[in-house]
Amino acid sequence: MPSNVVIVGVQWGDEGKGKVVDTLAGRFNIVARYQGGANAGHTVLVGEKKYVLQLLPTGIIRPDKTAVLGNGVVIDPEALQQEIRKMEDSGASVAGRLMVSDRAHLILPYHREHEVAAENARGDGKIGTTRKGIGPSYEDKAGRRGLRTSDLRDPARFREMCKELVSEKNRIDAALYSAPPLDAEDLTEKYLRLAEGMLPYLTDVSAYLNAEMDRGKRVLFEGAQGTLLDLDHGTYPFVTCSSAAAGGACTGTGVGPTRIHAVVGVSKAYTTRVGSGPFPTEALGAAGEEIRKRGGEYGAVTGRPRRCGWFDVPLARYSARVNHLSAVIITKLDILDTLAEIPVGVEYEFKGKRFKNFPAEVETLEQLKVHYRTVPGWQKDTFGAHEASQLPQRARDYLSFLADQVGVKIAMVSTGPERDQCVWLDESVVCP
Ligand code: GDP
Ligand code: IMO
Ligand code: MG
Repeated sequence: MPSNVVIVGVQWGDEGKGKVVDTLAGRFNIVARYQGGANAGHTVLVGEKKYVLQLLPTGIIRPDKTAVLGNGVVIDPEALQQEIRKMEDSGASVAGRLMVSDRAHLILPYHREHEVAAENARGDGKIGTTRKGIGPSYEDKAGRRGLRTSDLRDPARFREMCKELVSEKNRIDAALYSAPPLDAEDLTEKYLRLAEGMLPYLTDVSAYLNAEMDRGKRVLFEGAQGTLLDLDHGTYPFVTCSSAAAGGACTGTGVGPTRIHAVVGVSKAYTTRVGSGPFPTEALGAAGEEIRKRGGEYGAVTGRPRRCGWFDVPLARYSARVNHLSAVIITKLDILDTLAEIPVGVEYEFKGKRFKNFPAEVETLEQLKVHYRTVPGWQKDTFGAHEASQLPQRARDYLSFLADQVGVKIAMVSTGPERDQCVWLDESVVCP
């Protein structure tokens, strides 16, 4: 019985995970984010209302669900406070329904400043980060000098720790980037003020989730970013700094692997990427522009135009393996409605050798040639379709082709941004 399910991005993020989690959340009791922070942008439309969730789990939109931020998430208390306020202004009450791990690491102002300075210093080699302080916060976590949410429980100790850390950061940033110093006292006071709003949510999330699972409650794990942005499995160094792939759901919440019953990947019917880094099936020119325009492919957090391209089979197969996907959900099928032909990248070639695996080296990914299979488009409207019979035969053929090539069944197809704009092909993977 697939009670506890991970939703993970198959590509480079923005696959429509927010829409999918919102659609599926009705069948679960708890929605838990396990990694990332306010770098995520999950856009969800519910009737007239549009939500852009950055840090809060998408489950917060549904009044009868509990939303959890696991220990693997990095938390900017200011961003959290603003998002809670925004949510409450839109009529959703958060109190009593949000749990924040007392082991999650904090993002402090010096993380954001350090990231901006480091990105600027990289010049053309920049990663194109969201500048939310995500990377530097995870660096401090791994460097064993991070501050955690639970440190806010003891103001005197927090003050002491801040003083030391800010002094160290000031010295580093002055030496490396000639950055002006931060005032430790101001920073501490600000964070202790913000703590008042956050302390009531702090919980031992692992204890909470495991106890709820013992009572038969179902948990949906909401991944942010995507597998190719995962720190270990992504296109390093053009990645985010967390474990976005499904394995992160365990380390990022304190739930053991055997308690997770299924992993569902979310993939667009094509591919996009924001920021720098290799993108083998990128469609430059008019074709890419057409997808960007029809798909509204602009970052929800930064407003940056997303790079657009074709579905990449070797990438999706790699993602299916790394996550051991039980099924995949294909989103934004409707965006391809107008195309007469749709190229699908099916194989790579490098130095005269053809292969289907996803190479580790960024240089290889940048230089390889992609072999495409071009399939006929359906050139009919699929927007809002909610039954398989409403999909044109060629659209169904396209989906079958993707499923065959990737070797994973398709559970659902999304045909629009709204909750009910989807076609279920196989519900077994998310049904109790
Ligand atoms: P996420 O970060 O994975 O949650 O994805 P984003 O929210 O950043 O980007 C997906 C965008 O596509 C959002 O604006 C969604 O409202 C929209 N969207 C999701 N699924 C569909 C779909 O099937 N069709 C269309 N037309 N839009 C969709
Ligand atoms: P959602 O959850 C797409 C990208 C950034 C940059 C790289 C590192 O909406 O799918 P970071 O600020 O995380 O250090 O930036 O990762 N990136 C995303 N791209 N969707 C996201 O989240 C992303 N979060 C980070 O553009 O290339
Ligand atoms: Mg997004």
